[in-house]
Amino acid sequence: MSDIRIATAEDQLLLEKEARYCSYGDTVHYIEPPRIFSRCKGSYVWDTSDQAYLDLQMWYSAVNFGYANPRLNNALKQQIDALPQIASQYLHKGKIELSEMIAVDARNKFGLDGRVHFNVGGSQSIEDSLKVVRNASQGKSLMFAFEGGYHGRTLGASSITSSYRYRRRYGHFGERAHFIPFPYHFRGPKGMTKEEYGSHCVKQFARLFETEYNGVWDPKVGQCEYAAFYVEPIQGTGGYVIPPMNFYSELKHVLDQHGILLVVDEIQMGFYRTGKLWSIEHFDVKPDVIVFGKALTNGLNPLGGLWAREELINPGIFPPGSTHSTFASNPLGTAVGLEMFKMTSEFDYGAMVMNKGKYFLEGLKDLQKRYPIIGDVDGLGLALRCEICAPDGFTPDKATLDFMVEEGMKGDIEIDGTRLGLILDVGGYYKNVITLAPSLEISYQEIDLAIALLDRLLHRAMQR
Ligand SMILES: Cc1ncc(COP(=O)(O)O)c(C=O)c1O
Repeated sequence: MSDIRIATAEDQLLLEKEARYCSYGDTVHYIEPPRIFSRCKGSYVWDTSDQAYLDLQMWYSAVNFGYANPRLNNALKQQIDALPQIASQYLHKGKIELSEMIAVDARNKFGLDGRVHFNVGGSQSIEDSLKVVRNASQGKSLMFAFEGGYHGRTLGASSITSSYRYRRRYGHFGERAHFIPFPYHFRGPKGMTKEEYGSHCVKQFARLFETEYNGVWDPKVGQCEYAAFYVEPIQGTGGYVIPPMNFYSELKHVLDQHGILLVVDEIQMGFYRTGKLWSIEHFDVKPDVIVFGKALTNGLNPLGGLWAREELINPGIFPPGSTHSTFASNPLGTAVGLEMFKMTSEFDYGAMVMNKGKYFLEGLKDLQKRYPIIGDVDGLGLALRCEICAPDGFTPDKATLDFMVEEGMKGDIEIDGTRLGLILDVGGYYKNVITLAPSLEISYQEIDLAIALLDRLLHRAMQR
């Protein structure tokens, strides 16, 4: 396929060096040649030849508040001049105040006391949450998780991530999770409403506890072999699948009956992606643990962490030094996180995101009417999905989506005299879902532009 974004001579040289010196183990080259980017602002990134691309995935939802957000960038700059670093054994104001913000918010929303614990990155915070729940359940090491779920690629996190692909080469360092079907209604059995399918999935799960012979439950002592259920309220890598609204409250009922903790992974859907601080807030359940990362710092610093109920994490049960990272609760990260909380408390982000999300989804629905290859569109806030299928509107068509992604990266779409590229992310059980995570600061004009760019790519796909 011709690629008009031929790498510049400088890029060529860099790519040769990359091929020689960089591990490919920490990246994926989805397109050839890979683009090299040089700057970013708002909803856009620019490559080394200064071609602009509208970004609809925002670093896998790490940059919810737009690239180079002035307020958040300034918080980082000010912290660099004040207290850029301090060993984790010492305290600083930012860590304490950010913990307070998160814990007080959780108490107001869920009526639960709890504490906040930091680490770097999502996967590492998942690892810490595994320690919290294993410890609280007196060493039970088995977890439930969902088919289609993604919790990261460190050894513990990949053991509760559904894809075997992420474990295949490395053997087992801990027991893999028991993976339970997620209520993915579009691909579920026909003849059930979304809510009925949600209840059906919960009933299937509850069947495990009917008798000891189903393998997880000892009715004589009322004990489950599994410590916790790890959930992404809206599946991220799994394709932005939004479950029925009755699902989690019904699931939680079964978990409570059997002493199983609910760990909510908000790493991708947290920080207003779905119009709420935590996406689990849409579902009227109380989590036991919330794990977060990514957009806490708008992607400026790899700070991540977790909130857990007081009973699970108080220093008596989870003592000092239970986990440690040199960079945990680093002052640069906590300063940006704190500013993000202040910023989102001064303005109704919830309403803004829901309104923009509704508008974006209407645009996607309009495209769906015109392109039979769009099987499903859905969205919650600005977490939106668009499933690319064969013309029957159902058979997953990864090849066509791959084509669209490559075309978007050519940077040659002319709209009103301006040449643009479009950055799309691919997710889903069949890798045929555009998982749309635009900047929450995206303007309505940019949403129109996004729909126009998708329209052009779909048109090219149909002409192919
Ligand atoms: C839901 C979810 N959990 C965990 C992770 C892992 O986070 P990180 O990539 O920061 O290790 C991700 C990353 O995409 C994610 O989306």
